[in-house]
Amino acid sequence: MLAFSFPRARVALSAFALLSSFSFIDFVYASPTELPVRRATTCNGSPDLCDRSFGNVTFVGAHDSYAVGVNNLFTNQDYNITQQLNDGIRMLQMQAHNSSGVIHLCHTSCSYYDAGTLETYLTTVKTWLDANPNEVLSLLIVNSDDLAPTNYDTVFKSVGLDTVSYSPSSASLLESDWPTLGTLIDSGTRLVTFMDYEADFTSVPYIIDEFTNIWETAYDVTTSFDCSVNRSNSVTSTSMYLINHFLDTLVLGQPTPDMSELNQTNAVSGTNSLGEQFDLCVSQQGRNPNFMLVDFYEYGGGSVFEVAATANGVTYAPATPIATPLPQGSTTTSSSGSSPTAASLSFSWWSSVGVVIFSAALGAFYIF
Ligand SMILES: *[C@@H]1O[C@H](CO)[C@@H](O)[C@H](O)[C@H]1NC(C)=O
Ligand SMILES: *[C@@H]1O[C@H](CO)[C@@H](O)[C@H](O)[C@H]1NC(C)=O
Ligand SMILES: *[C@@H]1O[C@H](CO)[C@@H](O)[C@H](O)[C@H]1NC(C)=O
Ligand SMILES: *[C@@H]1O[C@H](CO)[C@@H](O)[C@H](O)[C@H]1NC(C)=O
Ligand SMILES: *[C@@H]1O[C@H](CO)[C@@H](O)[C@H](O)[C@H]1NC(C)=O
Repeated sequence: MLAFSFPRARVALSAFALLSSFSFIDFVYASPTELPVRRATTCNGSPDLCDRSFGNVTFVGAHDSYAVGVNNLFTNQDYNITQQLNDGIRMLQMQAHNSSGVIHLCHTSCSYYDAGTLETYLTTVKTWLDANPNEVLSLLIVNSDDLAPTNYDTVFKSVGLDTVSYSPSSASLLESDWPTLGTLIDSGTRLVTFMDYEADFTSVPYIIDEFTNIWETAYDVTTSFDCSVNRSNSVTSTSMYLINHFLDTLVLGQPTPDMSELNQTNAVSGTNSLGEQFDLCVSQQGRNPNFMLVDFYEYGGGSVFEVAATANGVTYAPATPIATPLPQGSTTTSSSGSSPTAASLSFSWWSSVGVVIFSAALGAFYIF
């Protein structure tokens, strides 16, 4: 008989497998309500958002989230990403560059502004995600040097973010096809990563092509915001969309954040406010924007999060007060007691102007 010729170990193993599968079936069918499946009851701060599709939620994003500092023309945020996330930012946008074979987050070029490696940055993201298990977070990577997604995959794997990343069932999803926040949280895949160019579903499915899933309004706006499709590679009526709501001013002909208008730019209502662009978009597109990218998000005292909360039909009630704008002329971190001298401050600002002049002279300059 064939069965007797099985090695003993294999028979034992098969018996074990059979028993385990019986007990598994028993378990599943005996009490389906007691399955050990995690059910999130709060998602991104609200019980009401658990049953909502990811594609039906409005998130606030930090434009150039890694570019942190004051008195520097190359920075777009006052606070580091941990503070951004604690305050409610749920999309981190970044510009990735190849710096001597290592992926760094730089502004325009790593010789102008280098915020360090993607690996260090993603380690902070991982720490925050681990500490906040009921939050869904998106990343938007600007792949400045057209690196292959496998290069990013290596970094995601090294910090353990590959296993918590969501891989869609196909390279592009309709807005209505996205899973609910509850599903993303329950299945432990709470990180949704988009990349503008070079994404490849067949090689790294969790690095999702941006423009076949999301269209964008214009960026580097220096006048007023509209809601026209500016960049897209999808059927815009059925895909998600992102509004670039940061106002620039020209310094030596180059767009840089208009600091003097920030409170109004980020406001709930009024001329050129986030609320105004939001309303315009709803009237033109018939639905809310999915992502709203802003600079120096804390200007307006939480107004950007209020716009999102209203859009989502929830109340904006931060557990702790959000960060306050750092005075222009202070240092990036308020932890050290010594304040910088006026001379060092103006040096910081003028040195970034110097970089602008230098690069304008080279004729190869573009801030965004
Ligand atoms: C981030 O900023 C907060 C203050 O907003 C500070 O407490 C924290 O140490 C900073 N984290 C890092 C890694 O610098
Ligand atoms: C990254 O840059 C280095 C030179 O600094 C180059 O040798 C390498 O080929 C680049 N990597 C990719 C993937 O483009
Ligand atoms: C996108 O916006 C930029 C201004 O930011 C404009 O120059 C460009 O023509 C726009 N492109 C399209 C396709 O609308
Ligand atoms: C923005 O508003 C804050 C709080 O009201 C205020 O302290 C700050 O001076 C304002 N900044 C600008 C540039 O208007
Ligand atoms: C979510 O669905 C509601 C109801 O259809 C709609 O009003 C809203 O615009 C949607 N939000 C997004 C971000 O699609």
